[in-house]
Amino acid sequence: MRTQVGIIGAGPAGLFLSHLLSREGIDCVVLEAKSREHIEGRVRAGVLEQGTVETMHALGLDTRLRRECMIDNALDIRFGDGLIHLDLPALTGGKHVTIYGQQEVVKDLVAARIAGGGPLVFEAEVLELDGIEGTTPAIRYRHAGGEHTLACEVVAGCDGFHGICREAFPPGALTTFDRIFPFGWLGILSESPPIREMTYVNHARGFALCSRRSPRVSRHYVQVAANEDADAWPDARFWDELRVRLGDGADELVTGRIFQKGVTPVRSFVAAPMRHGRLFLAGDAAHIVPPTGAKGLNLAVADVRVLARALGEFFRTGRTERLDRYSDTCLRRVWKTVRYSTYMTSLLHRFETHTPFDRQLQQAELAYVAGSPIGGAMIAENYVGLPFEDE
Ligand code: FAD
Ligand code: DHB
Repeated sequence: MRTQVGIIGAGPAGLFLSHLLSREGIDCVVLEAKSREHIEGRVRAGVLEQGTVETMHALGLDTRLRRECMIDNALDIRFGDGLIHLDLPALTGGKHVTIYGQQEVVKDLVAARIAGGGPLVFEAEVLELDGIEGTTPAIRYRHAGGEHTLACEVVAGCDGFHGICREAFPPGALTTFDRIFPFGWLGILSESPPIREMTYVNHARGFALCSRRSPRVSRHYVQVAANEDADAWPDARFWDELRVRLGDGADELVTGRIFQKGVTPVRSFVAAPMRHGRLFLAGDAAHIVPPTGAKGLNLAVADVRVLARALGEFFRTGRTERLDRYSDTCLRRVWKTVRYSTYMTSLLHRFETHTPFDRQLQQAELAYVAGSPIGGAMIAENYVGLPFEDE
């Protein structure tokens, strides 16, 4: 098989890239290690920035989203006796966020790719990359019991944090930056209507978050130990803990059957540069951010917008300027997002290592944001998404 761009991974990064490239008239093949059922069933993010929704709209992929999404115009933060209410449109010149599960985005992008006849191979596990320093790289993969080679001109490594593309960089070519927080998030989905506003909670027992997926499905999280076993949390324990952390806000909480439960690590990781020769990393393959702020999926979309534009220029004109600045362009946004997610993580979690001084500082920061339109606007501006660069 031969194509212009070999895309490894059918997560948000790989799928968005395939649609953006098709719009530019560039051929690509997507190779995905898992089955369609598997990737469509994976429960992850659910808060879409306006730029992500606009990207879906521009690609004509937002029909079901428009019908089923929820628009969020506010973000609440509870702490001590205080409540910070951030009116997103008022603080950001009219912007909001959209609630629509990552797996719904994935389903819509997969269906449209298949309907459009674009090659998307499931259960195709990439084993190795050859020749990424030349002009004719090749991707070796296993599919249907045999080994195959996809010859291409460019490889897009969209294979997530545990993929193989980062490892294809030669020794010493990558610098990595890592911060692992000493806690995790236990997340659940329940059959119950969400509370009115998306709510972050700073509580002495730890962080909590009340989110949503639809008017009938809630998504809630509580801070737990990094190595916590989700099975140690029967439904009643989860609801009791969430109620305690919500304090006064618990009056609104409606419980229901919990049908999904899992622990997510809280970690930052950045690999730089995001390109070596003809291999370009995008999304979680290059960086992960703590979940506080809901940025992972949105950052993947921002990367592939830059990459698609640069590849468009390259295949149309042979010019490489945009490709050459791909990594720097993406990393500027990545580091701003790491900064924001780290700020929100530090502001809202319980740290065992905190001294009484640190705890006073955290409460003072929350009280400052509560009383300052500028402090609130900084959070709101990042939450709805910073503007795209290099476009
Ligand atoms: P992925 O979605 O990981 O996609 C990579 C794809 O590559 C996968 O489908 C994988 O199967 C495939 N692949 C890997 N190796 C190979 C190979 N060798 N050959 C072929 N294919 C391969 N973000 C938020 O904003 N909010 C959240 O609440 C949140 N929760 C999360 C919970 C979990 C458990 C995880 C893991 C992530 C969560 N994230 C969350 C982050 C967000 O989901 C990711 O940032 C987003 O999925 C990144 O998309 P991606 O396409 O870069 O990577
Ligand atoms: C989710 C929502 C958030 O606001 C966040 O910071 C992380 C995750 C969610 O709905 O999954």
